[in-house]
Amino acid sequence: MKSSSILHHPSSIRTLRVGVFDSGLGGLTVVKSILSTLKGAELFYIADTKHAPYGEKSKVQILAYSLEITRYFIEKHQIDALVVACNTATSAAIETLRETYPELIIVGTEPGIKPAIETTRSGRVGVLATPATLRGEKYQQLVDAHVDGKEIALYEQACPGLVEKIEQGKTEHPETEIMLRSWLDPMREQNVDTIVLGCTHYPLVSNLIEKIMEHRLTLIHTGDAIAKRLLTLAEAKGHRNVGSTALYVYATGPIEEEIMMNLMGKCISVSSISTTS
Ligand code: DGL
Repeated sequence: MKSSSILHHPSSIRTLRVGVFDSGLGGLTVVKSILSTLKGAELFYIADTKHAPYGEKSKVQILAYSLEITRYFIEKHQIDALVVACNTATSAAIETLRETYPELIIVGTEPGIKPAIETTRSGRVGVLATPATLRGEKYQQLVDAHVDGKEIALYEQACPGLVEKIEQGKTEHPETEIMLRSWLDPMREQNVDTIVLGCTHYPLVSNLIEKIMEHRLTLIHTGDAIAKRLLTLAEAKGHRNVGSTALYVYATGPIEEEIMMNLMGKCISVSSISTTS
């Protein structure tokens, strides 16, 4: 009797293992949401800083990085779930990842166009994203699905160079402010009241964006929605959401640790790895 109750004891269920990746620090904005939602899991995070920024690379390159990282997660950490904490990699790779690994729970990231439309009062919505995300088919499908037929003006702005500034730790730097002003001043003048942060790095410059927009706006990011989706899919596969969650951070190249500590609010150690040749 005792041994059978041990056999069916919840502790015999293997801890959920989740791989999360991005080109760098940005995906940690999603990890933060996951950590406050998901219990009793192990999170493995890869910052692929060797190949950042993804947003200025070709779809073929981004797909290759995404497949290599996923293979690494499966071989080294036997993950049950994958979170693509990057709009750019989601756009380039999510379909192939789902076809290649049908047994994995896979959650991607896409610009929050729908919540932005539900939020705006002026009907003027700004979208900041990487060049690759904005030129991707997935983005166009998202706009077609949610904007067509509505009285909404979208101000789409690719932000080349911004991810590099963030990766260099220049989240409050005058150079970053000048860059952002060149894109945001016209939006402010056009009475944009809602801005979609269509790249997971951009919440790291939300203070600057709010300052330039004179605090008259709502910023939309999707970390909490991604975390909820992950939890729903994991529970459907038997995950019991209890206990503590451990986080292991890896980087394929240099990483700005101060920004990371500020973001996560605690000390995190980073291990170096090489996933790609
Ligand atoms: N943070 C990623 C995104 O959401 C990638 C940015 C980049 O590397 O260009 O798009």
